[in-house]
Amino acid sequence: MKIIRSPKAMAAWSNRLRLEGVTIGFVPTMGALHDGHRAVIRAARLRCDALVVSIFVNPTQFGPTEDLNKYPRAILKDRAVCRMEGVDVSFEPTAQSMYQHGFQTTVELPVIARRWEGDARPNHFTGVATIVTKLFSIVRPHIALFGQKDYQQVALVRQLVEDLNLGVEIVAHPTVRERDGLAMSSRNVHLLPEERIVAARLYESLQAGADAIRKGITDVVAVQKRMTKIMKQEPMLRVDYLAVCDPLTLEPLVSVRSRVVLLGAVHLGPVRLIDNLIVTSLA
Ligand code: PAJ
Repeated sequence: MKIIRSPKAMAAWSNRLRLEGVTIGFVPTMGALHDGHRAVIRAARLRCDALVVSIFVNPTQFGPTEDLNKYPRAILKDRAVCRMEGVDVSFEPTAQSMYQHGFQTTVELPVIARRWEGDARPNHFTGVATIVTKLFSIVRPHIALFGQKDYQQVALVRQLVEDLNLGVEIVAHPTVRERDGLAMSSRNVHLLPEERIVAARLYESLQAGADAIRKGITDVVAVQKRMTKIMKQEPMLRVDYLAVCDPLTLEPLVSVRSRVVLLGAVHLGPVRLIDNLIVTSLA
């Protein structure tokens, strides 16, 4: 596996392979790779000839009070994971090389990025949209894989690619979970043992919502009540939102349609957890 740190060298590598007709696959990450990342990387491996994984803790997607300095970093382990999964290039740029002195252009967000995580984390999606655009311009992949765990992020990236003609096929990989249902996340390491147990309630609550919908409940308030009931059993949890939304626009619904996405975010100790479930109803 090649380790490339300079954006210029990365672009040169990609250009050379593109000229040879090689299909380039790409998985952008912020490192601290866990089995969720690993599954996305493995799925990408099957869809391309040459696979690039980027490991870059992007400072512009963290708010001033967020955990940029505390974000877990484990570059040697990450490289070992990438090697084991047959990655061809680990692209590890520095913040200085990605945001050079005088950097000032950002991507203006589509409506889809304004609610939910966009509301809760001002500037977060501007940082994501801008870094993804930059990474795509450098790596120039034919196909890029993202996790469904960050549902709104994938929706944003799809819109971005469509609107700015970035010419990258976007694939969403299903959420990989711990045994108790908690969606894997690099931030889960910050949970204390008692918080870790409570964390599974978020998925449980989404499942309760999905069950209600599958049983034929169409009133969104009634579905939300079922979800909230589970959260209320845990005083440690502070719900940010539990929403029933259109799976494409992410607009909140008043009544359930044939396909919806349940979006949830909670605060637990030092961590903010997000999760989602797509539900098909009989309605
Ligand atoms: P990061 O949180 O490191 O995640 C990298 C990719 O792995 C994302 O597409 C994310 O959705 C996916 N992923 C994380 N946990 C997952 C899980 N449990 N199951 C399936 N996929 C999972 O998301 C980012 O980094 C950044 O915002 C990035 C896109 C790299 C831009 O900086």
